[in-house]
Amino acid sequence: MTENEKQKLGRPKQIFSLDRRQKLLHPGKSLYRVLLDSVTLSDESVKFQIIHEKNKILLQVEIYEIEGNIFRLKIDEASPLRPRYKVPDVLIKEPTTQRLFISHREAGILVLSSVNEDYKLQITANPFQVELQSKGETVMSMNSNGLLYFEHLQSPPSDRKPTAQNEEAASDSSKEKQEDLGLWQEKFGSFLDIKAHGPTSVGVDFSLHGYDHVYGIPQRTETLLLKNTSDGDAYRLYNLDIFGHKIHDKIGIYGSVPLLLAHKPSRTSGIFWLNSSETLVDISTKAVAEVRVIQIAKQRAVPLTDVRWMSESGIIDVFLLMGPTAFDIFKQFAQLTGTQALPPLFSLGYHQCRWNYEDEQDVKAVDAGFDAHDIPYDVIWLDIEHTDGKRYFTWDKQKFQNPRKMQEHLKKKKRKLVVIVDPHIKVDPSYTLYAQAKEKGYFVKDRNGKDFEGICWPGSSCYLDFTNPEVRKWYADQFAFKTYKASTNILFVWNDMNEPSVFKEAELTMQKDAVHYNNWEHREVHNLYGFYQQMATAEGLIRRSSGKERPFVLARSFFAGSQKYGAVWTGDNTAEWSYLQISIPMLLTINMTGISFCGADVGGFIGDPEPELLVRWYQAGAYQPFFRGHSNMESKRREPWLFGEKNTQLIRRAIRERYVLLPYLYTLFYRAHAAAEPVMRALWIEFPGEVETFDVENEYMLGNALLVHPVTEKEAKTVTVLFPGSEEVRMYMNYSTVQPKEVLYIPVFQRGGTVIPLKTTAGKSTEWMIDISYELHVALDKEACAIGELYVDDGHSFQYLHKKQFLYRKFTFHKNVLSSR
Ligand code: NOJ
Repeated sequence: MTENEKQKLGRPKQIFSLDRRQKLLHPGKSLYRVLLDSVTLSDESVKFQIIHEKNKILLQVEIYEIEGNIFRLKIDEASPLRPRYKVPDVLIKEPTTQRLFISHREAGILVLSSVNEDYKLQITANPFQVELQSKGETVMSMNSNGLLYFEHLQSPPSDRKPTAQNEEAASDSSKEKQEDLGLWQEKFGSFLDIKAHGPTSVGVDFSLHGYDHVYGIPQRTETLLLKNTSDGDAYRLYNLDIFGHKIHDKIGIYGSVPLLLAHKPSRTSGIFWLNSSETLVDISTKAVAEVRVIQIAKQRAVPLTDVRWMSESGIIDVFLLMGPTAFDIFKQFAQLTGTQALPPLFSLGYHQCRWNYEDEQDVKAVDAGFDAHDIPYDVIWLDIEHTDGKRYFTWDKQKFQNPRKMQEHLKKKKRKLVVIVDPHIKVDPSYTLYAQAKEKGYFVKDRNGKDFEGICWPGSSCYLDFTNPEVRKWYADQFAFKTYKASTNILFVWNDMNEPSVFKEAELTMQKDAVHYNNWEHREVHNLYGFYQQMATAEGLIRRSSGKERPFVLARSFFAGSQKYGAVWTGDNTAEWSYLQISIPMLLTINMTGISFCGADVGGFIGDPEPELLVRWYQAGAYQPFFRGHSNMESKRREPWLFGEKNTQLIRRAIRERYVLLPYLYTLFYRAHAAAEPVMRALWIEFPGEVETFDVENEYMLGNALLVHPVTEKEAKTVTVLFPGSEEVRMYMNYSTVQPKEVLYIPVFQRGGTVIPLKTTAGKSTEWMIDISYELHVALDKEACAIGELYVDDGHSFQYLHKKQFLYRKFTFHKNVLSSR
């Protein structure tokens, strides 16, 4: 089936009942009230109950202060019919809490203070509201618009005896109304979703005081700055395979991280909504009047952003990250979900991919082509056609007769191979992987308890249930050299289609009523599916080396915390200028939410880029974290030397620049790994006080030293670059201070006051460059000073961690002396 055919199937336009139901609740006075008698205080938390004035259902609220300026609020039913889903495995550990104190109590108000009294949480009883203040300034409030919404678990209408509690529901129980609201089942065209546990959605609103710039919640083809959704669709977090996705669409694609950042010159805040079911986020920014009494009362308009989160199921478990700087937010989020895995050095080189490199001869020829044209590259990739009939972990016996020999060849050339391993498993009793998984009961089940079968590349397929730790362990073992036939230690892995993509199903994904480990429905875990596959794959690669070697795994689907397992990319983009443009805000957004190692297919996956676009894309990609050329089956071959000598030269120059820059890039990745600093940074992160940077998405900072403004316009002769900050900036490649001159190359500038480490020249691949010497580029600030860093290790093992085998130098240029320590 071609991609086009695949798209015609299974994509009816959906209206989401979750949205329809929650939207029946309008801003106003919340019906929830705190039962003040129920407040209990312990070393860990403050707990109390709230009651819904109409249905009388009790909810349990827990508030925690977590070390490092984080607050956590959990809301669950006080006594649910059965436990509700709580997202496991995303937090790296149970967060360390600090005691909260009651610092003030008066009729209907309870004020909690943090140990150092910097933060205060004011809880209003009726209606239930929470306000978070930092040194007297209100930063956020929760439920101030009264949109707390919590569908309690109920027995199905047929079993229900009329009681006071379900009176309300009963009065609504006309079949039509129930169906319309999708309470117990929902239809999308010919697809039926049976909700065995009925309606379970949750939601609440937050107000961000003084903020009118909000970011985050990837992934979609949208602007850096999140828009008002008041008169349109909400942002949607629901991992989907959308081939040929449109630009400027709020629908979610492939991966999601439910982290939203809000920024104003004096502060950055974050909201991390830990929920893996389908989630909608509504945003509305307005100006509100603020009255300040200094000597005479003054009124001024201050911005306020309301953010409403709505999830299909689970509980409310939300982390309020108090910053106060953007870098503090990154640390706080990393403290919860982990930092970027330190990539093996080779994976920061250039990757050459195509669907498909046909056979061993093709692989060798492409590899030789790079040498013949003096273009460095590190990795060649094999897509699905390399397997025996899309049975992953196998080889097509005709086309790849001796894959081990092919890898030995690549190894001699100091290069690597990446092969694709998707999560769907061909239904074929003679395929060992299928037979074993079937026998062990490792597949996701359908609502009737049979193995869920869907269509994907191999035809009829079952889907491994990666939410089960035993399945993950078994899967990881499949990467052992002795099990994965003809795999060698230069083979690394690409996990695709793991949203999961299921052709011919509603929205091309798994039905929500499929059943996972511990009987959780797919609706609960949907956004975690790809996260778990990448986790198991990375674990497998580590284990095959007895814990010695760093893995490299690229995944298409992701969730909060995926940074621990490898890299992600933005999926099936199109060879058009607009997709090159949008790749920048998309990658900046992903970087903001913890995942530094990301990239977009260079050249555009779908279609055939004109040579100018291809060249511009290489120039942009060379300065992005993950750098891979990739193209669709139906597009023409596009190895870098196929577009005439002039273009080959330009592409060669861009890729070589990337290799020269690797010491700096690797050092940035070390900082991402060790200190949660994103590699690719929206300008406002480096210039938090400069309002004109807040919506800039056509240029960015690579680390703190390089400002990159890729050329993304056809036939551009000049670009207009915004230089924030007061420091002088320098042209990065030719040392001269900036002149407003014609720009045909890559506009990259070095910030005054920085030192960056480079290699003096590029080699055929990263491994060929070990002995090439380093050089430092020093750009002075106004006081004629500069600082910078260099991180070096063996580039592939965990010795940096276990044996502290690394070099970490800090350079200082001061009074005309450059020193290193
Ligand atoms: C979809 C992926 O996004 C694309 O990169 C890949 O080439 C195809 N699947 C085939 O595996």
